[in-house]
Amino acid sequence: MMHTTTDHAVTYNYKVVRQFTIATLIWGVLGMSMGVVLAAQLVWPELNLGLPWTSFGRIRPIHTNLVIFAFGGCALISTSFYIVQRTCYARLPSDTAAALFFWGWQAMLIVTVASYSLGYTTTKEYAEMEWPLAIVLTVLWLLYMGLFFGTIMRRKTSHIYVANWFYGAFMIVTAMVHIINHAAIPVSLMKSYPIYAGATDAMVQWWFGHSVVGFILSVGFLGMMYYFVPKQVERPIYSYRLSIVHFWAIISIYIWAGPHHLHYTALPDWAQSLGMVMSVILLAPSWGGMINGMMTLSGAWHKLRSDPILRFLVVSLAFYGMSTFEGPMMAIKTVNSLSHYTDWTIGHVHAGALGWVAMISVGSLYHMLPKLWNRKDMYSIGLINVHFWLATIGTVVYIASMWVNGITQGLMWRAINDDGTLSYSFVETLQASHAGYIARLIGGSLFVCGMLVMLLNTWLTLRQSTPYTTPVIQPAEV
Ligand code: HEM
Ligand code: HEM
Repeated sequence: MMHTTTDHAVTYNYKVVRQFTIATLIWGVLGMSMGVVLAAQLVWPELNLGLPWTSFGRIRPIHTNLVIFAFGGCALISTSFYIVQRTCYARLPSDTAAALFFWGWQAMLIVTVASYSLGYTTTKEYAEMEWPLAIVLTVLWLLYMGLFFGTIMRRKTSHIYVANWFYGAFMIVTAMVHIINHAAIPVSLMKSYPIYAGATDAMVQWWFGHSVVGFILSVGFLGMMYYFVPKQVERPIYSYRLSIVHFWAIISIYIWAGPHHLHYTALPDWAQSLGMVMSVILLAPSWGGMINGMMTLSGAWHKLRSDPILRFLVVSLAFYGMSTFEGPMMAIKTVNSLSHYTDWTIGHVHAGALGWVAMISVGSLYHMLPKLWNRKDMYSIGLINVHFWLATIGTVVYIASMWVNGITQGLMWRAINDDGTLSYSFVETLQASHAGYIARLIGGSLFVCGMLVMLLNTWLTLRQSTPYTTPVIQPAEV
């Protein structure tokens, strides 16, 4: 019997992918602009304006939550829905649940930001949301997992593509650490106390905190890498076997590294040493993943000359390699005794956050955007190029200034005179850091300008007159 193409064709739920894509861009600009405000406040403290809700202390968690859960979160959600449908050759199980999830996620983010502005906070970094919001987030996350794993269960392919393994692990571990770290006793509608006490509370918090870094900011985005790098290069991933080894090694080691955030504290010494050793071992799987991505380009390096999207993806891998070399070094206790409390940590964070997380997301979004709206290409490749240079120069200026500041601060704080007194006062280290803060403000602003260029390019692409038709995709195309 003859089969027509439509016998095998599946239409995907691209609406929710498009919604999360636009949300990623908007939250990206907002969250990073908050970062610029913070950077400016560290140059000119008067910009705190003397008002509680514009103070550094309230804007900082707004920045971190917006860039991680709103920008990073929406980027992960949009790409995971795109990839899981295409690689499983199946539609998300429910359009209504997908719509509910989209609007629920946005509403949750808005209410969370409002609660931080009003000063409600658990004071646990990246887990500042008070208990009612933490419950809402849990319910939404379970809905997300239902949509993702539901699609995997409906798949029409025999195997599960490796990108989905990474996304799946990111979802499961995020649910686990979020629920355990938020276990608290409410005393009023917006106030609760953790059920853990003292050093145990700190350990649970940083087990969570490091899992945010490890499973959201690393494993989740590695899922993105495993799909979009081969797609953009138009070659299969360098080694499927390495990707399996990479997966099991990274998920089994990351979860133990949390204590490196608590060196020289009341945490038992053995726990600190365990965290340090696991962090050093983590270099191997991290670089395994980076090498797998990079080597996918073998024989196709020339494409970098003409394809700025590929450049975003490859440079993000380079920053990933750099920050996952730096992280294990900073986890060594003697190095940490210099780096902790200084801007070196902030430089490391943003080497990962801007160089890796934001760049891989931007590259992936540029790849997806025309396909989602059924356009041939982005409106302007030149503007993508402009964005690439703004982002790369911005990141380098940001992290280089923080390295200089961090090492200066660390060395000045530990310098002592012959009689054992401190050589420098704290204010003197602040004065020495001033130039670095100005440079960071410039670097961060360049990065945000790049995001605005992307927003413009996206708007111009969507405005083009090609009518939208629901894409019908064949298995060979996934
Ligand atoms: C234009 C972009 C950005 C600028 C100007 C910026 C600026 C800042 C500033 C000034 C701080 C506070 C540093 C301090 O307390 O001394 C900060 C903290 C932080 N930012 Fe950003 N940021 C940007 C983008 C991002 C992105 C895209 C992410 C994540 C994906 C991110 C994640 C974080 C995190 C996790 C912290 C807390 C670090 C810590 O506690 O050690 N930032 N940022
Ligand atoms: C092998 C991988 C990595 C290791 C072993 C590692 C290790 C470390 C260490 C030792 C610190 C400083 C802790 C302190 O002194 O308080 C740190 C901070 C941090 N790292 Fe990494 N890192 C790695 C990769 C990454 C990546 C890829 C990102 C992505 C954005 C990242 C984001 C962060 C953040 C956000 C913090 C600040 C946490 C806080 O204090 O609020 N790290 N990391």
